[in-house]
Amino acid sequence: MLKGKKILLGVTGSIAAYKAAFLVRELKKEGAEVKVVLTHHAKSFITPLTLSTLSENPVLIDWSNDQESWNNHVDLGLWADIMLIAPCSANTLAKMNTGICDNLLMGVYLSAKCPVAFAPAMDLDMYQHFTTKRNIQSLVDQGYHLIDAEEGELASGLIGKGRMAEPETIIEHCKLILGGKDQKKKFNQTKFLITAGPTYEGIDPVRFIGNRSSGKMGIEIAKTAKKMGANVHLVLGPSNENTSGLEEMEITRVESAEEMFNAVKTRLETTDIGIFSAAVADYKPKNQADQKIKKNDSEITLELVKNPDILKYAGEQKAKFGYKLIGFALETNNEIENAKSKLGRKNLDLIVLNSLQDKGAGFATSTNKITILGKDNKILKFELKSKAEVAEDILNTIADEI
Ligand code: PMT
Repeated sequence: MLKGKKILLGVTGSIAAYKAAFLVRELKKEGAEVKVVLTHHAKSFITPLTLSTLSENPVLIDWSNDQESWNNHVDLGLWADIMLIAPCSANTLAKMNTGICDNLLMGVYLSAKCPVAFAPAMDLDMYQHFTTKRNIQSLVDQGYHLIDAEEGELASGLIGKGRMAEPETIIEHCKLILGGKDQKKKFNQTKFLITAGPTYEGIDPVRFIGNRSSGKMGIEIAKTAKKMGANVHLVLGPSNENTSGLEEMEITRVESAEEMFNAVKTRLETTDIGIFSAAVADYKPKNQADQKIKKNDSEITLELVKNPDILKYAGEQKAKFGYKLIGFALETNNEIENAKSKLGRKNLDLIVLNSLQDKGAGFATSTNKITILGKDNKILKFELKSKAEVAEDILNTIADEI
């Protein structure tokens, strides 16, 4: 989808500037045309030669080249389909917000008629400073696209928010922005209820029955729905995934299937679209021991009882509340037959099938391969893609089909 798109990348002074090389390489792989504008500070972190080689275009830094030719900032601003400023330092954020135009990058930014996205990168305390927060908020309010920083280890050794988003994330944002300036309106104010992650069913205070779900798939669906304008409520099981980027949605953290069931039940009345991607344990121990079970016997027997089927319950309440319902099916054999049967039994509008037979699909991977089945026997097959792209496919299908 980026094939032939003209992308203007502004790189500012931050240690994250090294990621600009990967970003340019990936954008080129996607078939985009890339031009790079560097600030003087950025040159301390990455060389113009690296970026001109990767972008196959001269890198621009100054208003003029050796006083001989003029780098026309207005033409550059008009050339681009999208302008990305990544990494965007605290200094450049402040200039963008006040219109200070003391370098070529700012001249291009002020002339740009295309969407502009910025990916901040800075140290923890700088990121948390109220002026930075105010500048970011003000730019977002003016319609610029924030590609929010991620949490993790920072160059200073501190741990927290401030790392520039990874190039793949920036590219996904880029696609969403270009993929339709109307994309955001697709689910404007639509209320989504999304379940994600595994559930843990306690055996005793230290042990549980669980499964391999990481929560990635559901988290990506929640993030993408949010980007498409939805109001999102995410019910998330015990997942260790990074939840940065989820700040703007309501999240209920749960552990067991029973807790997930209770969280979902109270929300159904106010739901427009439910997407249930959680891997819920079908059974739980009949009794949870109060104390750690000692290993006295050579064998023990755990008596299991059925958990509530949350999706089935939501299917039964559909007519009462009028929402649309999308379930998942994780299968290992007879995939299409089993998915079709779940679609009917649980009264779903669509079901997303992923099979453990497909390499790179299912649990814990950052990719998935899905088939979407509809009530009218329609079957849509998709290639192996990143879970972020899969989330987009699912939401676009929901928008198109129901
Ligand atoms: O979290 P990740 O590591 O990214 O992995 C993603 C995933 C593989 C977990 C996800 O893509 C997926 O397939 N989720 C559904 C897994 C599952 O439990 O499938 P199922 O076929 O057993 O269940 C069918 C549907 O009923 C699912 O929508 C499930 O959420 C729902 N269900 C199942 C049992 C139950 N007691 N309550 C439910 O709501």
